Amino acid sequence: MAMVIGGIFSVCYVFLVGFVGLVLSLIIYHFLPLLLINLGSSSSSNSLVVPKGNFGWPLLGETLAFLKPHTSNSLGSFLQHHCSRYGKVFKSHLFFSPAIVSCDQELNYFILQNEDKLFQCSYPNSIHGVLGKSSMLVVVGETHKRLRSLALTLVTSTKLSPDYLNDIESTAIQILASWKGKHQVTFCEEARKFTFNVIVKQVLGLTPEDPQTTKILEDFLAFMKGLISFPLYIPGTPYARAVQARTRISTTVKALVEERRRSIGENKSNKKGDFLEILLSVNNLSEDEKVSFVLDALLGGYETTSLLMAIAVQCLGQSPLALEQLKKEHHNIRSLKKKDEYLNWEDYKKMEFTQNVINEALRCGNIVKFVHRKAIKDVRFKEYLIPLGWKVLPVFSAVHLDQSLHDDALQFHPWRWETQGQTAKKFTPFGGGPRFCPGSELAKVETAFFLYHLVLNYRWKAEGPDQSMAYPYVEFPRGLPLKLDPIVSESSA
Ligand code: HEM
Repeated sequence: MAMVIGGIFSVCYVFLVGFVGLVLSLIIYHFLPLLLINLGSSSSSNSLVVPKGNFGWPLLGETLAFLKPHTSNSLGSFLQHHCSRYGKVFKSHLFFSPAIVSCDQELNYFILQNEDKLFQCSYPNSIHGVLGKSSMLVVVGETHKRLRSLALTLVTSTKLSPDYLNDIESTAIQILASWKGKHQVTFCEEARKFTFNVIVKQVLGLTPEDPQTTKILEDFLAFMKGLISFPLYIPGTPYARAVQARTRISTTVKALVEERRRSIGENKSNKKGDFLEILLSVNNLSEDEKVSFVLDALLGGYETTSLLMAIAVQCLGQSPLALEQLKKEHHNIRSLKKKDEYLNWEDYKKMEFTQNVINEALRCGNIVKFVHRKAIKDVRFKEYLIPLGWKVLPVFSAVHLDQSLHDDALQFHPWRWETQGQTAKKFTPFGGGPRFCPGSELAKVETAFFLYHLVLNYRWKAEGPDQSMAYPYVEFPRGLPLKLDPIVSESSA
């Protein structure tokens, strides 16, 4: 008996010691960066200080408070509290790492411009698991440069294709035609259909009727869910389903690539000069990189753009003056076109107020709230020291909603863009520097063309309250349901 009690006691003792050891090591791991900084700073960089702030709980730090949902046209309580307490640049502990959070336009700009020199893109490992190791959002250094230069070539050459604009417009017309007889739509779903069909056509040359399109869409929905889920790879979890969905999409894309390769091999006149064909002709990418490349374009071009459209539609619904001016601009453009004539680049350039609406929706909607970077050297910025290895998070929304940079910053006011230049520092919805979004123009053209057909053919009203929320991934909880009222006499769709 005594032996049993002794045994239990020693097991308990071992557990207790283990537990205390674990807690202590967590605490040491958590605060070690601060200790090291304090030791280092006394000898080398006396005048520099790590920004003020709070490390929060061991391990988790302040991550949960940082990720607390809030409306996407607001700062959220965490940033509001921390900025007023510590200033626009502060330290924290986020995503299992000591971190510097920047809500300062100068520092954000400095971070974006010094990619690969002082800072480097550093998304959490869970994202790597889903996106794959060759995704452009994940790779750094030379590999990133190589993939990016191809992305820019593809953007330029697909833009030159005569079908580029027509495909976007006919997809918009198709979606709006499918609303015929409906009194209500869930706008986010419709916008997603539109942006998905556009990007699948642009990248893979598929139409909505092709069976592969439906298959890719199904897998894509699972993929998207997993991207924002808890990264636990156990069969059945959204994360595991996403990783599996990515494998299936890769297989479908690989089959399409193979099919195209064969068809070009058999008959040279099958050449279309589209995205897929250019990708096939590139020699300095592995097969895996080519598939990742297609996935990046699908992923980047789908959810973000549909959100931009939804935010614009919601804001216009609440701003009758802006809607009126937009309608006038689109009526003027249409009045100069023949019946059923497609829009062209000249028409797009004439959509000046539309551009203002899009910029304002991007500023207010904050589709990408912040990006992930890490310091790859000890960095000095003004009086601050940003220590090597720390996470660095430039928060774009904080700059977009900064009252000292944008008058009446919380108001949707598209007219501000008539006088306010789009300086790269205070307006960065597409990021900046060597990682500036290669799809920014496509997103704007899609939104402009869809709005054109929407405002000429429909009046709409929000069916009950809904608001874009930053989770921090932006989403309309109810999908933005709209009541529709067709403008019969002026219909062109
Ligand atoms: C409203 C729509 C969009 C928004 C707000 C947006 C925003 C962004 C932002 C902020 C970045 C920078 C990420 C970083 O620095 O870490 C980015 C990168 C990227 N975007 Fe977009 N994007 C949009 C549309 C698109 C579209 C339509 C495509 C593709 C056709 C696309 C493809 C990409 C890719 C591939 C990257 C990675 C670039 C690199 O790392 O060099 N995006 N986007």
